[in-house]
Amino acid sequence: MTVTKTKNPEETAALAYRIADLLDGNEVIAFFGGLGMGKTTFTRSLAEALGSKDDVSSPTFAIVNEYHGKYNIYHFDMYRITSWEDLYSTGFFDYLDTGILVIEWSENIENALPDGFIRVEIKPGDGETERIFEIEGIDL
Ligand SMILES: Nc1ncnc2c1ncn2[C@@H]1O[C@H](COP(=O)(O)OP(=O)(O)O)[C@@H](O)[C@H]1O
Ligand SMILES: [Mg+2]
Repeated sequence: MTVTKTKNPEETAALAYRIADLLDGNEVIAFFGGLGMGKTTFTRSLAEALGSKDDVSSPTFAIVNEYHGKYNIYHFDMYRITSWEDLYSTGFFDYLDTGILVIEWSENIENALPDGFIRVEIKPGDGETERIFEIEGIDL
């Protein structure tokens, strides 16, 4: 596991750029951590780093947003997903291996995450703008 602190949103963006460089195009990046931790902020920079010009926002109502750059990026919000039936209906399993899946609120689908997924847990640090990233599943 790698532990990295970011002091502000710009440092979180830089971390996302670093990780984007290491991706092959079929990874599952699963975020853990509550509201306002920076999951969407991170995803926005990740998509940008992969050459996407699409708007990135929390896919709360759509459940999944798609962005297109160097790879397809499928951005999920699992906040409302509480059963396997719900999860199947999002198309989650069909999207696996067709692009990079980025998942907010992975807490709700932890048992469905595939082997080898990249775990990104974000915790609050000191002050308003420090975040502690605990990352597993990728060598930084
Ligand atoms: N170190 C940081 N990393 C990421 N976001 C930060 C940081 N410090 C402050 N923020 C702010 O926190 C908010 C995170 O929002 P968002 O990315 O939507 O979170 P989430 O998707 O986890 O709910 C943004 O307003 C962002 O500017
Ligand atoms: Mg969000």
